[in-house]
Amino acid sequence: MSEALLERGARALFERMRDKRVLVVGDVMLDEWVWGRVSRISPEAPVPVVAVSDHSFTLGGAGNVASNLRAAGARVAFAGVVGDDAEGRRLLELFDGIEVDRSATIAVSDRPTTRKTRIVAHHQQVVRADWESSEPLATADRTRFCAQVARLAGDCDAVILSDYAKGLFSREVVEAVRGAHVVTADPKPKNIGLFTGVTLVAPNAGEASEASGIAIKDEASLERAGTELLARLSCRYVVITRGERGMALFGADGARLIIPSVARTVFDVSGAGDTVIAVLTAALAADARIELALQLANFAAGVVVEKLGTATASPEEIVALVGGNSGG
Ligand SMILES: Nc1ncnc2c1ncn2[C@@H]1O[C@H](COP(=O)(O)OP(=O)(O)OP(=O)(O)O)[C@@H](O)[C@H]1O
Ligand SMILES: [Mg+2]
Repeated sequence: MSEALLERGARALFERMRDKRVLVVGDVMLDEWVWGRVSRISPEAPVPVVAVSDHSFTLGGAGNVASNLRAAGARVAFAGVVGDDAEGRRLLELFDGIEVDRSATIAVSDRPTTRKTRIVAHHQQVVRADWESSEPLATADRTRFCAQVARLAGDCDAVILSDYAKGLFSREVVEAVRGAHVVTADPKPKNIGLFTGVTLVAPNAGEASEASGIAIKDEASLERAGTELLARLSCRYVVITRGERGMALFGADGARLIIPSVARTVFDVSGAGDTVIAVLTAALAADARIELALQLANFAAGVVVEKLGTATASPEEIVALVGGNSGG
């Protein structure tokens, strides 16, 4: 596809995305950031003392997928589980702040809100502390959660299942979204079988290798792994994201597309997979052809890896990168 054509297609597609509604179901996390400077070593133990200058909270895990969808312009509903605690309430406020419908997000009493606290000094992470439980949901909570998911799934143009292996997903949760036209999944290898029958799965190369049992080393092994996952999961598309190598599409109809990454300078690759599944799915919700959806997701990932931290990409930024990527 020529660059001018791609740019025009992208603009028209982002226009259509604005009245699409996407439901994200997944493991949400509160990312907590403590920023500061180190000027001395602690007298208590041989560790740096960070003098804190800033403190902030962002939506992480599946919450970052919701942020990316909002940045792309889609309407978003979120279904997840938080603890009955201050962090859980903070997550709900963060969703409200970006106008995500979180009415299907439930609080449970027997687990903490997943929270990752990072202490960063001089742009370098000093330490990270995690609060989390990866236990499966209690049966009663799962039933309550599935009812909420099913309530919204039929009203949405697409559903994203964003799995961070924190115990949310079970076959019942996946069954609860059966009514949706388009269902995509960003799976962890140990759970991948749960996502059998969805429209599209998008693991990264490491996850695809682990899930298929085929080490991806070159284009031949990439093809074998993609084909194996297509057959095993009976889905229409498998997208394997390959970090700086870009991404590859495998379609049950025989479609194949391998595209290189497009970032000019790479600052921070964390969360790029969230951007990919968000933009791919919003594009499919707006009836894009899969090839265009893949190209846009790749450009969106290019935008976010050029930014520090888990970031999002706006239609303007994505279109600008498409336009600036003529190769000369
Ligand atoms: N180093 C890089 N240079 C250029 N593009 C990159 C780089 N890393 C990632 N990308 C872009 O982001 C996409 C997704 O990245 P990746 O395959 O690393 O996903 P991931 O491992 O699921 O990411 P994460 O788990 O951090 O969200 C790639 O297909 C590519 O378009
Ligand atoms: Mg990922």
